[in-house]
Amino acid sequence: MIEIGVVLAGGTGSRLLPLTKRLNKHLLPVNGQPMLHWPLRTLAMLGVTRAVVVLGGQSCGEVIEHFGTRYDTGDGSLDLVYVHQDGAGGIPAALQCAFPTLEAMHADRVVVILGDNVFPAVPRHLRGELDGADDNAVVLAKYVPDAASYGCVAIGPNETTIGMELVEKPIVPPPAGAAWAAVLGFYALPMFHLRGVLRSLVPSARRELEIVDVLDAYRRKGMLTVLPTTATWIDAGDPPGYREANDTAFWSRS
Ligand code: G1P
Repeated sequence: MIEIGVVLAGGTGSRLLPLTKRLNKHLLPVNGQPMLHWPLRTLAMLGVTRAVVVLGGQSCGEVIEHFGTRYDTGDGSLDLVYVHQDGAGGIPAALQCAFPTLEAMHADRVVVILGDNVFPAVPRHLRGELDGADDNAVVLAKYVPDAASYGCVAIGPNETTIGMELVEKPIVPPPAGAAWAAVLGFYALPMFHLRGVLRSLVPSARRELEIVDVLDAYRRKGMLTVLPTTATWIDAGDPPGYREANDTAFWSRS
């Protein structure tokens, strides 16, 4: 199976203004490295050797200058190709930008990580779970106190997923006996179904295509594996997350 990483680093970083007025969000320092180093390192630690980086927003050229076409993360190297995303449109729109390049690379499966999602360590067993997933899409889910600020899946006792749709930033309570768990910005998606799934999407109320709708399309086909995780994780794309990602306490939790 040809597995290609995809790092989604488009967007303007508006939640981190004024830091991102001129500088690409993914170059902001996080624990002594530009933010984008961390998702690239996560992919490398999973054994991924080639990745497509979708760029957008300010100073994209500086991102390319920094990371180049072969990047040594210190925990494995990656060959990188870059794709530019004009405007926003949501995570699936960024995947659509990457799609022709992924086809040209003959990808069978893509391992997608958001450019502002930081994991100090690769969750144990993740590589094995990805290898065992066959044609299923895989997503990580974690209980966090502010789960409703993220894409969510309802998880019941014994970490069983409740058979209901995934929801982006739910405003309704979870089903009885379940709790909302945040869907982390890490997804493995088989290419075979991805084109059709991306074409079937309609914009949400916030006028974006939503990654939860991509995952839900796989769920409806019976092709979604939700992996509950306790891995240390942070979405560094807003001020509280950015501060936490730079906090030594965050790194000592891994
Ligand atoms: C995005 C996704 C959401 C996911 C989150 C993880 O949210 O839409 O499903 O849980 O990343 O970081 P956004 O950063 O656009 O609010």
